Amino acid sequence: MESAAENPRNARLRLSPLAYRRVCLFGVWALGFIIVTGAAVRLTGSGLGCPDWPTCERNQVVAPWQYHAVIEFGNRVVTGAVSLAIVAAVLGSSVRRPRRRDLTWLSWGLVGGLIAQIVLGGESVRHNLAPPFIMAHFMLSLVLLFNAVVLYHRAGFDDAPPDARGRVRPRGPVTPLVPAEHLIMGRLLVVSAAVAIFLGTVVTSTGPHGGDPKARRLELSLHRVAQFHSAAVLLFLGLTVLTLWRMVRVGAPAEVMRRGELLLILLLLQGGVGYLQYFSGVPTWMVAIHVTLAASLWAVTVQFALGLTTRPDSRPAVTPATAPATAGALDADAVLAPAKA
Ligand code: HEM
Repeated sequence: MESAAENPRNARLRLSPLAYRRVCLFGVWALGFIIVTGAAVRLTGSGLGCPDWPTCERNQVVAPWQYHAVIEFGNRVVTGAVSLAIVAAVLGSSVRRPRRRDLTWLSWGLVGGLIAQIVLGGESVRHNLAPPFIMAHFMLSLVLLFNAVVLYHRAGFDDAPPDARGRVRPRGPVTPLVPAEHLIMGRLLVVSAAVAIFLGTVVTSTGPHGGDPKARRLELSLHRVAQFHSAAVLLFLGLTVLTLWRMVRVGAPAEVMRRGELLLILLLLQGGVGYLQYFSGVPTWMVAIHVTLAASLWAVTVQFALGLTTRPDSRPAVTPATAPATAGALDADAVLAPAKA
């Protein structure tokens, strides 16, 4: 590897592991934020505010000064900002020193997801916000957020010295912080969160907030699908309580328990908002809180499962301002910091 002295261009383009980790954290924020702005488009009935794509209206890229057009266009601008965050994650992974292939691959995963989201967004408009497109659009945004949280998590691991082929991997073996069956419980929580969230999108696609009066609704009983959604939530809650109780019994490390507590608090908060909104006719502002908490809960659940293993010699955590809804309210460090050995 040429040193900075040998190649001044290298000096300019280097990123330290800590700086790259901050770039990854910005990606987590940006991908969480766009879930909220996307919901704002739906909840204000602005889904077809820009009838065309990628232009807003025929050859007009910028939206006319109309309420729905400006909101939809605003969300497209946020997509631009998210795209920049993802480009930064990819470029950053190539100038991070030392360079790590796992981080490069994960950052390219974000690019693939973003392209799929942009195409799906365009198809959603072309199909007048038909429920399957909107549901897939929401679920894909959670896959992107999952990718971003994993990238941020792995960027927190120390680097091993390069191997014989000059490749750098995370330092040390993966070390479980809890017994194997508890690791499985952690993964089960991610699956049960995904099921609860998917059923939430079914409720939304059956309910009144379709994003535009022209958007057709699923012909299901709103009461029935809300029952399935809340039943999945109760299963998620039961599994979370069982997992945390068993973690206490095996003396799991403090930061594992801290993340578990945050997960439980968010889950109870989200459940409360869910019932409140359901029994008060799903007011748009409450649904916006529900979606924001759903995105936060997803990031925290994924981080909880990731935090059940560690790699020795992990670098000190970056203390992030993290998940949109929880920043400042709770111990930010407990949210997205990798577990230390
Ligand atoms: C862990 C707890 C929960 C999570 C993670 C969650 C997640 C979600 C998600 C992701 C959506 C779809 C949002 C969208 O498509 O934009 C949703 C919608 C909804 N959820 Fe939940 N939910 C939870 C608890 C509940 C509970 C306990 C109820 C009570 C019945 C509930 C009622 C609803 C309703 C009525 C909607 C439709 C809102 C609309 O019309 O847009 N949720 N939920």
